[in-house]
Amino acid sequence: MNGKAQDMQASNEPEARMAAGGGVPVGAGAMPVPGGGEGAGVVPGGAAIAGAVRSTGNVPDARTAGAAGAAKAETGSVLLSIRGASYRYADAAPGEYALKDVSHDFAGGKVYAIRGRSGAGKTTMLALISGLERCTEGSVVFDGRDLKDLNLDRYRSRDIGIVFQSYNLLPYLTVVENIILSMDISGAKIADKKAEALRLMRSVGLKDAYADRKVLRISGGEQQRVAIARSLSYNPKMIVADEPTGNLDKETEADILDILRRLAHEEGKCVIIVTHSPNVCDMADEVFDLQ
Ligand SMILES: Nc1ncnc2c1ncn2[C@@H]1O[C@H](COP(=O)(O)OP(=O)(O)O)[C@@H](O)[C@H]1O
Ligand SMILES: [Mg+2]
Repeated sequence: MNGKAQDMQASNEPEARMAAGGGVPVGAGAMPVPGGGEGAGVVPGGAAIAGAVRSTGNVPDARTAGAAGAAKAETGSVLLSIRGASYRYADAAPGEYALKDVSHDFAGGKVYAIRGRSGAGKTTMLALISGLERCTEGSVVFDGRDLKDLNLDRYRSRDIGIVFQSYNLLPYLTVVENIILSMDISGAKIADKKAEALRLMRSVGLKDAYADRKVLRISGGEQQRVAIARSLSYNPKMIVADEPTGNLDKETEADILDILRRLAHEEGKCVIIVTHSPNVCDMADEVFDLQ
């Protein structure tokens, strides 16, 4: 089996890119490089085929807590569609695909788990969804617009929030500075950024006392809360997370999953989580199996 150490290595890669000032927007474009340190060599010729979908029936019906939730959410309408998407690396053998002919619709107000063995193409799928990579064949359509027609930097820094297994915060900045930096990159018009950052912190269960603490001095679970707050800083309609609870203990995992579920069910966001964790699959409204 592929170990956690390798997964961590894979998702540390964007951290290195950000630290090196690679021009990747914080909380936005940084995405683990598909297969980085994880898939390669594990599944030779690993071609992923279109996944099977299981609905867990977790979506509360007629939910949407009143008009406010419904207005924000447009719960149930398709936000992102993957249509016949395939991806193959330039150096892949003929016929070898990292992702092969995947189609699926993702709606607001729901939590999706993408599940599959190591090398199945999960990170590749998230990279296509987040616009870090372009499909070799097929398309990804967000809010009615094909990603190939969009400015992807803008898409990543405004329309979609990204959460990583290893948090990928800037450790020498404070909690509030990490969140405000992401607001600045997005160009979102926010009158009082510090007040908004504090509001976001509270929404993920972080006390105000943490605001001016350097990120390297808080726990992993707290860092993941900050990372979620950061991903919400420009109020995206969609949150994607690559193994967001992979480094956390069970109790902290439950807290983080609660936050993600609330974002979908109460705020109408489309939440997509790549995972190995049965707990994530259990709480998801829909499980998409990449085989
Ligand atoms: N840079 C690359 N060059 C060639 N093949 C790659 C590269 N990165 C990943 N792959 C292959 O693509 C497949 C999917 O990788 P990935 O999306 O990282 O899977 P997962 O996240 O499910 O573990 C794997 O078979 C992997 O070996
Ligand atoms: Mg992966």
